[in-house]
Amino acid sequence: MVEPILKWAGGKRQLLDALYARFPESFDRYHEPFVGGGAVFFDLEPASGTINDVNPRLVSLYERVRDEPDRLIERLEEFADPESAPDPDLPYAETTQRGREVGNYYYQQRARFNDRPYTGEYDPLEEAALFVYLNRTCYNGLYRENADGGFNVPIGRYADPNWVNGGRIRRASEALEHVAVSNRDFEYVLDAAEPGDLVYFDPPYEPMSPTADFTAYSADGFDREDQERLLEVARTLDDRGVNVLVSNSGVTYDRYVEAGFHVDTVDATRAINSDADGRDAVDEVIATNVSEPARRDAGQRALSTFDGR
Ligand SMILES: C[S@@+](CC[C@H](N)C(=O)[O-])C[C@H]1O[C@@H](n2cnc3c(N)ncnc32)[C@H](O)[C@@H]1O
Repeated sequence: MVEPILKWAGGKRQLLDALYARFPESFDRYHEPFVGGGAVFFDLEPASGTINDVNPRLVSLYERVRDEPDRLIERLEEFADPESAPDPDLPYAETTQRGREVGNYYYQQRARFNDRPYTGEYDPLEEAALFVYLNRTCYNGLYRENADGGFNVPIGRYADPNWVNGGRIRRASEALEHVAVSNRDFEYVLDAAEPGDLVYFDPPYEPMSPTADFTAYSADGFDREDQERLLEVARTLDDRGVNVLVSNSGVTYDRYVEAGFHVDTVDATRAINSDADGRDAVDEVIATNVSEPARRDAGQRALSTFDGR
């Protein structure tokens, strides 16, 4: 059980029990095509499989964590407090690439991160360090990009921000050693998954209403067509004897039922708007082709019945 390196929108830590309860009793390899912050992957630490995300910086970060954890930690240790003055020896000490004034070290680091594709030689280790640093010191720890792919979250308010946490990086590095990491569209899993494997899909959720902005994970959104494609991929895997779990918003309930999946709503409270009168609680669904008797917790239930006799 490893803690995720990043804080990530749509993180699944609060859903772990509900997901695990639907996992098959046993499976071969584990695949997570929309890995994001990897709350499930890092908690599970599978012995083999694949993880993937369409976000290139995220995938590059995981590769550095896996291959050079100590050098990454060293770079992070060199970074200064977000509220301190910009470093005159680094680029963007005064203004950003757009000519905006840089008030402190945080905004300097943000401007450096947003320099992609970088001027001069691309240094993936520095990019990874900047990613972790910004994620741990930005407001709410949200990853959000504007239309040009720029990271645009303002500085957070932390009394004592900890952007290094070497122990966490080293443990995550070990977890990553056992899996292949890729930066593709989720459909790669049709080539990767074999019968008996388990695939967990956690896509950007389909919006509950046309205005709900659930899908803004990156500059290229995940639209209705992508949702249809995902359902098709889940069906194909099901036909091949691959175990499949999908989490999504409540609006997809009927579609997954019609496709023959077992679908449950789970008790999740998610903010879809922030009007003063309170936030709408929305249903979240977990769809799976794992039948109840084949699930992990089916064995537990049988055991407790047995014990009670
Ligand atoms: C709901 S988040 C996953 C959250 C993750 N389960 C966690 O615990 O942090 C969805 C992820 O899908 C990625 N994504 C969006 N479109 C994709 C695509 N077509 N193929 C693969 N990944 C995609 C996003 O970059 C984002 O990281």
